[in-house]
Amino acid sequence: MNTVTVELETRYDVRIGVGVRRELATLIRERAPRAKLAAIVTSSAISEQPWNDLTTGIDTIVITVPDGELAKTPATVAQVVEELAAAGLSRHDVVVGVGGGATTDLAGFAASIYLRGVAVVHVSTTVAGQVDAAIGGKTGVNLATGKNLMGTFHQPIGVLCDLEALNTLPARDLTAGAAEIAKCWMLESRPVTELAGESQLSLTTMAVALKARVVATDEREGGLRATLNYGHTLAHAMEKIALARGEDLRHGEAVAVGLAYAARLAVRMGRVEAPYVDYVSEVLAHFGLASSLSDSYDTDALVAAMRHDKKSHHDLTFVLPSVEGFATVPSVEETLVREVIAAMKGH
Ligand SMILES: NC(=O)c1ccc[n+]([C@@H]2O[C@H](COP(=O)([O-])OP(=O)(O)OC[C@H]3O[C@@H](n4cnc5c(N)ncnc54)[C@H](O)[C@@H]3O)[C@@H](O)[C@H]2O)c1
Ligand SMILES: [Zn+2]
Repeated sequence: MNTVTVELETRYDVRIGVGVRRELATLIRERAPRAKLAAIVTSSAISEQPWNDLTTGIDTIVITVPDGELAKTPATVAQVVEELAAAGLSRHDVVVGVGGGATTDLAGFAASIYLRGVAVVHVSTTVAGQVDAAIGGKTGVNLATGKNLMGTFHQPIGVLCDLEALNTLPARDLTAGAAEIAKCWMLESRPVTELAGESQLSLTTMAVALKARVVATDEREGGLRATLNYGHTLAHAMEKIALARGEDLRHGEAVAVGLAYAARLAVRMGRVEAPYVDYVSEVLAHFGLASSLSDSYDTDALVAAMRHDKKSHHDLTFVLPSVEGFATVPSVEETLVREVIAAMKGH
């Protein structure tokens, strides 16, 4: 088992390892000593998993919400807070989000607004959740207009990343989730040759430690936290187009293509040398991630979607490597952006 401490004002530990879900009762006793009631927020699909034998050490209710992304609605938030109130959950008590990023985002949001904020613990059960969503305190749900448009910052009192839960995760989600791990590997500029010796435990710990460090330095998305968006400008555009077409594209699958794209763009702009593109595709290939851009993504539609990203202010902004490190680069010329899209499609 590994522990990464998130060094914020409200310090908390992220525990990573096989079976760490069994630390839940201890975590609650230590971090919420006055808690008498725990409310587990989860979906029935998660409740039915063979590893799901959670004990909190105190009285417990289970609030069942729709599975995955379907739970991230204002209506489900209202349902959860109503159920917390009906159960008489007090400000000393604790909410426990159990599931992937969608469930922990929802549970964190509900916990942040119920009684103006009660403690939340995340038991994260997907790769994407463990290395990304459960760490850093961003919570939220979707609006009809767009994803994650309603939310808060609310740090958990602890996070448990149980690697045993990953045994039941579909292979596609396991691979897609690894895109964020690959991204962290690249942000750390670690060599491809070292990947062979890494385990799920060491990789998860590396990614969690990077996010924890970034979040501790920059809790609310200034320059440093923004570097975690490496690969995400094109990825978000692809996701938007795929959603409109009713296609099933995982976030991580889009991020993998976005990382490969950003590498090519950085080379085209003279920020890094040509072999950097090979480095990125080798890292992605190690995790079984495809990095080619399908012809079905129309260049005009991609550029338009990138200009409308909520973080871009209609500008074409990318996180890009350089010899000095990663930086957010605004106002990248549209002709370059298009040229590199065309070159990628040609491969
Ligand atoms: N808060 C943040 O900083 C942050 C960061 C990244 C992503 N996110 C959010 O995370 C969400 C995506 O999270 P996700 O990729 O974990 O998907 P998810 O939470 O939607 O879960 C996907 C599916 O996996 C199933 N599942 C979860 N754990 C399982 C397990 N151990 N075994 C079998 N099935 C399991 C779920 O039931 C669900 O059907 C998005 O809503 C995204 O916005 C938030
Ligand atoms: Zn991401």
